Formats: sequence, C-alpha cells, structure tokens
Amino acid sequence: MRRLLFLLLSALLSALFVVSVWQDAHHGWTSYQRRFIKTLAKDERRGVTGGIHQLIVKDLNRVDRCTTCHIAIDKPQIALGEEPFKAHPGKFLQWHPPEKFGCTVCHGGQGLATEVEAAHGDVKHWEDPLLRGALVQASCRQCHGDLQQIAEHVPMLTQGKQLFHAKGCYGCHAIKDFGQTVSQDLTEVGSKSYQLLEADFENMAPPHDRIHWFMSKLNNPRHLNPGVRPEQLPPGEEEVFPSAMPNFSLSEQEIQALTVYLLSLTASNLPVSYVIPGQPEPTPTYATPVERGKAVFEKYGCAACHGIGGVGGRKNWNGGLGNEVPPLLYVKAYYGSDVESLKQLIRNGRQPVPRADPKRPNPGLYMPAWKDRISETDLDALVAYLFSLSERLPQPPPSASQAQSWWSPEPKGQTQSRSEGSAEQPAS
Ligand code: HEC
Ligand code: HEC
Ligand code: HEC
Ligand code: HEC
Ligand code: HEC
Repeated sequence: MRRLLFLLLSALLSALFVVSVWQDAHHGWTSYQRRFIKTLAKDERRGVTGGIHQLIVKDLNRVDRCTTCHIAIDKPQIALGEEPFKAHPGKFLQWHPPEKFGCTVCHGGQGLATEVEAAHGDVKHWEDPLLRGALVQASCRQCHGDLQQIAEHVPMLTQGKQLFHAKGCYGCHAIKDFGQTVSQDLTEVGSKSYQLLEADFENMAPPHDRIHWFMSKLNNPRHLNPGVRPEQLPPGEEEVFPSAMPNFSLSEQEIQALTVYLLSLTASNLPVSYVIPGQPEPTPTYATPVERGKAVFEKYGCAACHGIGGVGGRKNWNGGLGNEVPPLLYVKAYYGSDVESLKQLIRNGRQPVPRADPKRPNPGLYMPAWKDRISETDLDALVAYLFSLSERLPQPPPSASQAQSWWSPEPKGQTQSRSEGSAEQPAS
C-alpha cells in the first residue's frame, strides 16, 4: 500500500516537473528571473527579490507586474544588454517614478499578466497593445497639455499633429469641437473599441490591433472601405462608393507619425495631480491679407477636398466635375467680378453637389457650410488668398464669360496635373 502511494506521489511529482519545465519554455516569468539572478554576483543579489513584482498605482487604477521580468528596469548598475533585463532608456523613470506612474500608463499592455504575450497585449480581446519605440509618444498627451515643453522627447507625436493639420484632415474630421463633420469625429479614435473594428480587421492582414488598423487606413483608405459595386448587388439596390477619404500617398515615416498622433486621441480623465495643462497658443500675426487667408485655408482644412494649395485632384465619385472635387485655381476667373456670391458659397456650402450620373448615388464629398466657423474678417482674407491662387496657373485663366460655373468643362490647354499623387505638392 505504502509502495503504491510512493509510486503515485513520484509520478505526480515528475508530472509537475514536466509541467513546470513546459511553462518555463513557454515564457513564464520564473525562467526570466532565474536567468537574470544567475548572472548576478553574490553581493548584487541583495536587494533583488524573486517572485512576482508589482507596482500598485491606486490613483491610476493600475497594477503593473512588468517589473517581474523587466527586473532591472530601474537598476542600471545591474542591468544587462538584452531584454527584458535592460535598464530603462533616458530619465523617464526619474521624471515619472514607477511607484507613482507604473508602466502601462505610457506603454499600454496588460499590467496584471505574467506571460510575455499576454503582458504585451498580444492576445485576443485585449485592446491595449504594447507601445514600443517611438509609439510610446502617443501616451504623453494624456498628461502633457503643452507638447512644446517636452518637444525634444516627442518628435513623432509633434510631426503627426503637424501632418494632421497640413494634410487637411480637419476638413472632414473633427477633434474636440474643431473641424468639419463630413466624416467621423476622431476625438477618441485612439481608444475605439475592437468590436467596432471587427469588420475592418477582416480586410487586413494580422496583427489585428489598433496600431496596424491606423497604419492600414492611412496607407490606403480604400483598402478597408472598398465600397460595393452594382454588379455585386441584387438589382435595385444602390451601390456604395469606395471611401471618400483621399489617399495621401504618405511615406512609411509619415504613416508612423500620424499613427502615433491618432493613438494619442483617447478619452482620459486622470487625477489633476498627473496633468500639466497647456498654455493657450499665441495669436499669430500676418503681414498681408493673402498670408492670413492662406493660414485660414490651412487651419480649417480646405486642402482636405481641394488639395494642398487648392490644386485639386481629390476623388469624388459621381461628382459633377470629372468625378473630382474642383480645384480652386480658377476661383478668380469665375468670381472675380462677383465676390459676394463666392462668399455666399463658402458661408452656406453646397450639399449635396450635382451628380454626374443622376441614376447613381450622391457623391460622398460636398462643400460644407463655414458660416458658423469662419469670421467675416477671415473670410475676406480667404477670398484674397483664393484669388492669389490664379497666379499659379501655367497660363492666363479663361475669361469669366467662358466659364461661369464650377462644373463646366476644364479650359483647353490646361497642363495642371490632376492625378492624386502629383496633386500633393505643398503650397510654396
Ligand atoms: C513574462 C515576462 C515579461 C513581462 C511580464 C513583461 N515583459 Fe516586456 N519583454 C519581455 C521580453 C522577453 C522582451 C523581449 C522580447 C520582445 O520584444 O517581445 C520584452 C520586451 C519589451 C519591450 C520592447 C523592447 C524593445 O526593444 O522593443 C517593452 C517596451 C516591454 N517589454 C514593456 C513591457 C511592459 C510595459 C510590461 C508590463 C505591461 C511588460 N513588458 C511585461 C518580457 C516581459
Ligand atoms: C513616462 C512614460 C513612461 C513610463 C512610465 C515608462 N516608460 Fe518605458 N519608455 C518610455 C519611453 C519614452 C521610451 C523610449 C522609447 C524610444 O524612444 O525608444 C521607453 C522605453 C522602454 C523600453 C525600451 C524598449 C523600447 O521600446 O524602446 C522598455 C523595455 C520599457 N520602456 C519598459 C518600461 C517599464 C517596464 C516601465 C515600468 C517600470 C516603463 N517602461 C515605464 C516611456 C515610459
Ligand atoms: C500620467 C501622466 C503622465 C504621462 C502619461 C507622461 N507624463 Fe511626463 N510628467 C508628468 C508629470 C506629473 C511630470 C512632473 C512635472 C513636474 O514635476 O512639474 C512629468 C514630467 C516630465 C518631464 C520632465 C519635465 C521637467 O521639466 O522636468 C518630461 C521631459 C516628461 N514628463 C516627458 C514625458 C514624455 C515624453 C511622456 C510620454 C512618453 C510623458 N512625459 C508621459 C506626467 C506624465
Ligand atoms: C475628404 C474627406 C476626408 C479627409 C480629408 C480625411 N478623411 Fe479620414 N475618413 C473619411 C471618411 C469618409 C471616413 C469613413 C470611413 C471610410 O469611408 O473610409 C474616414 C475615416 C477615417 C478614420 C477611421 C475613423 C473611424 O472611427 O472609423 C481615421 C482614423 C481617419 N479617417 C483619419 C484621417 C486622417 C489622419 C486624415 C488626414 C491625413 C484624414 N482622415 C483625412 C474622410 C476623410
Ligand atoms: C469635405 C470636402 C470639402 C471641404 C473641406 C471644402 N470644400 Fe469647397 N467644395 C467642395 C465640393 C465638393 C465643391 C463643389 C461644389 C459643387 O460642385 O457645387 C466645392 C466647391 C468650392 C468652391 C467653388 C469652386 C468653383 O470652382 O466654383 C469654392 C470657392 C470652395 N469650395 C472653397 C472652399 C474653401 C475656402 C474651403 C475651406 C474653408 C473648402 N472649400 C472646403 C468640397 C469641399
């Protein structure tokens, strides 16, 4: 009987041994700690305790166990040259002591988890992917209202914010009450739920997380929203045009910067002791009305639909003018003698715009109304800027009598390129 018990117990023990070896081989935290502690000299082992390490940050409602594996993150004197045993780069942990900040408030991931994939958020149903490298900059805006103050540490975030402005994203999207409502409000897009992204994930290659969703959207907006063609539908049902969001032909680096900025747009209600409010931006001054008008054009995102510098080239399915939003280089020719109707058009917009084919659906893009947004003084400056654009035409513009409306055919001999790629030249 005893013998049998002994045999059973030894079998159980060896089974447990096998399980623990298997767990170690599968990224359990113990193997990391063991590997690390082995490298330490005897006197260095003091102060390094085994077991699960956790940073309990009540004010932020977080329990972060990252330091269980990243065991030397705040101990450069014993850190090694490989992850997870490196010391933290820079002075970030001095400025943000781990007891007060933890790790996940900046890096995302799953604080409580003690296996690599789970801790780094690489598991299904965890919606907070690990922010590595430059992506960490997405977290800083939660607390630092004034990016200027920390500019040296957030080049990607700053560039992303500038690009959002320069490419005219505000012409279609709003963030916190600023910007048009042609498409989604992006105020909290950085924490948009994965359930809402599910359908889009089907159209993209893994990994299926928010970071890669943004990159995919920015790389080619139509890829995730290709539309539904009439031949794919039962007769009588209306086709759906592909995404009206332009392809900005962004470089890999620009995509990353914009992704960092989009990730930074989250709902956030941190305790005041963590938040450093921003200063209001100084009011700029302009030498001429044209200069001021250019700033108005850029601020409100007119480039969203009319191209940077108003050169046109943005697709608008079934739009009256060659399936594109009209360029603004001819505005002086059309409205030079009737400034008031130009101002009326900008104040009231035009929705929907005329269709090329009345049997197909309305174009996705329309001219929004600006009367509640742009002041009359800014509107005058804007008109001055729009008129100045005619100077960029390769030859004298057509006379007003030849072309009275924006959907009339293009003047002959026009050499301005209207393809999407080449329309992206920034205004000089
Ligand atoms: C079970 C052990 C373990 C835990 C727990 C863990 N990590 Fe890691 N971490 C690693 C390992 C191993 C690597 C190196 C491999 C890799 O990059 O995935 C790493 C890499 C990283 C890197 C990237 C380093 C680089 O050069 O790209 C970051 C950032 C990071 N961890 C942050 C965290 C944060 C934040 C947490 C807590 C939410 C955490 N880790 C929890 C083991 C762990
Ligand atoms: C204030 C925000 C902040 C906090 C808090 C923070 N980090 Fe970082 N972490 C950063 C920044 C910024 C970098 C540098 C990223 C870069 O430019 O490469 C970084 C880099 C790292 C790296 C190097 C790999 C990489 O992605 O470059 C690791 C690993 C890491 N952090 C882990 C941690 C752990 C573990 C904690 C918690 C003890 C922590 N961090 C807390 C901001 C933070
Ligand atoms: C949870 C809030 C929070 C987050 C997230 C955060 N910080 Fe901070 N940061 C603070 C607070 C609070 C201070 C301390 C300010 C003080 O002491 O006046 C600080 C201090 C700093 C300082 C030192 C400023 C100085 O003048 O001494 C720098 C630099 C800095 N943070 C950069 C960053 C960067 C870069 C990120 C993103 C990777 C980041 N912070 C993320 C709250 C945060
Ligand atoms: C001409 C209008 C237009 C402009 C300009 C535009 N977008 Fe969009 N955007 C859309 C439309 C329409 C959608 C809705 C989804 C679709 O049809 O692709 C969208 C969707 C998005 C989404 C997904 C939002 C969500 O919650 O699903 C993001 C993120 C986004 N745009 C970012 C940007 C950025 C960044 C820029 C500037 C570089 C930009 N957009 C410029 C029209 C525009
Ligand atoms: C969401 C897309 C969108 C945005 C943003 C937008 N527009 Fe338009 N705009 C259009 C469309 C579409 C038309 C064509 C209207 C039509 O066919 O009736 C148009 C027409 C115009 C016209 C008439 C052009 C002509 O050839 O007659 C002017 C001028 C104009 N827009 C100026 C502006 C200014 C200034 C801004 C910024 C304050 C702006 N637009 C922002 C879509 C937009």
